[in-house]
This record gives sequence, structure tokens and C-alpha cells, in this order.
Amino acid sequence: MVSVRIPATSANLGPGFDCLGMALSLYNFVQIDASDSFEITLTGDYSSGIATDDSNLVWQSMCALWNEIGIKTPTVSLTLENNVPPTRGLGSSSAAIVGGLVAANEYAGGVLSKQEILQIANRIEGHPDNVAPALLGGITLAVSTETSVIARILQDNPRFIALAIVPDFHLSTEKSRNVLPASIPRTDAVFNLSRTALLVEALIHENYEFLREGMQDRLHQNQRAALVPGLSETLEVALDLGAFGSALSGSGPTILALVSSAKASEISQAMVDSLSSHGLTSKAYTLAIDSVGATVL
Ligand code: HSE
Repeated sequence: MVSVRIPATSANLGPGFDCLGMALSLYNFVQIDASDSFEITLTGDYSSGIATDDSNLVWQSMCALWNEIGIKTPTVSLTLENNVPPTRGLGSSSAAIVGGLVAANEYAGGVLSKQEILQIANRIEGHPDNVAPALLGGITLAVSTETSVIARILQDNPRFIALAIVPDFHLSTEKSRNVLPASIPRTDAVFNLSRTALLVEALIHENYEFLREGMQDRLHQNQRAALVPGLSETLEVALDLGAFGSALSGSGPTILALVSSAKASEISQAMVDSLSSHGLTSKAYTLAIDSVGATVL
């Protein structure tokens, strides 16, 4: 038997589109057992709509790894505990991919390194900003080169916690990427690259007073605001009440705020109320930054 725990992730962190992400203390679990027949059992809070046949993303990822290392696909049963809300901008598909790859690798005797697993995960997912923190933990920079992904953990023990306010509707990454323009003005490019640099500096050196500016974005957030009613106002509400920074989580619709523990409850409630005033019900999670990433239990 092999069991793996995989964290939820929040990508972009504002300006770091497709390259920054953080791992959060909300987990899916993947278990492989030897079996006479293939079967997938789903447990956890979010099982509805998840495939239990061989199109399942966790299973597909396992098969990709076994294929990569040249071993025959074994007959196994899977138990998948899904606690990360799907299609909400919290990295559920990356959790599935990373969970499948890490579990399959362990089942095969731990042949591949994390670095090698990261390359396969990125190939399957298409962008590395969720898969890198899901695999490695912490707040992570992932840089796609022509041939590989360079991943660096910027911070794995920050003095803030994360609020993830999850609106009660699905938004696919594909739909949320389709609203983005193919090119942006140079001034917006400069805006984003300067904020991304500031954000990285603020995270590494724990200068949290710069997170507010460092998490501003002109590349995707405003463009996606039409898909998430109340997004701009809710980001502002969090900042007004003292959040260090706030951003759309990944491609949305979840909204992320980085806060001190002392202010978490007040800010969380205000963000939920703000979405509510725009007609959205939401669920609030108060989470730590996961420092270890996918873990074989
Ligand atoms: N960087 C991605 C996006 C996040 O914003 O579309 C989903 O992987």
C-alpha cells in the first residue's frame, strides 16, 4: 500500500502569472493498493463529478509515470480523498497530477527524483505555478525554460497565514484564460515585472509591508473581474482591514488574502460579506502555508 498527501495551492499571488504559487494546509490523499481488479473509490468533501474510470486524472498521471520509467501498468485499486474544492483556483488538478505521480513513483520503488517528477507534472499540467508548490511545498517560483522547469522555494515558513474565500461556483481554468488578451501594453508589462520582483524580495526578506504593492497585477486580474462578481471590492476590503496582500487565487474564483493570525477572523468574515453583497455565497478557509509539499505517508 502507498499513501500520499498533497496540498492545495494558490497560483499567481497577483503579478506572478504562471510562475509563482504557494502550498496550503488543505489536503487531498491518494492511496494505491494491490488488487485483482482496477477500481477507484472516492471519499472526502468533493467527490462529485470526479471520474472513476481510466480517464481519472490521478490514474492517467500514474500511467504516465510508469510509462516513462518503462514498467508495465500494475493492477491496483485507488482510494482518492478529495478535500480541495475543484475548479475553484486552488490547484485541484495539480494535486491530482502530483498525487498520481508521487504515489506511482513510490509504488515503483522511488525511481525518480522530485526534480524529475516536476518535469512530468509540468508536461501534463501545461504551466508549473501550481504543480511546483504542490510537489515541493512553500511559496515557490517556477520558471519554464525551453527544456525544463527551474523551481525555487522562496519562503517556507512565513509569519502570515492565508485566507481562501471560495465562492460557490465553478470556473474552469480554460474559461478564465480565454478572457485574457494575447498581448499587453509595455507599461503593464513593466508594472507586473516590477511588482513581481518586489513580491519576491518581500517574501524572502519578510518585508511584509511591501506585499500590498507587490501583489498588484495588470496581467490577468482585472480582465477576470467580470467572471467573479465583487472581486475588486473584496480584494480592497481585505486590504482596508489590514491584510498584507490580496489576490485572485490562480484562475479564480477563489480570493486569497495573506493576513496575521490576529486579524484572520475579522478579515475572513468581511470578505465573505463582501461577496455576499454581490450575490455570491462562499466558504472561508483559514490555512497555513504548507512547507513540505506532497508527502508519502
Ligand atoms: N497561472 C494560471 C492562470 C493558474 O492564472 O491561468 C492556473 O494554473
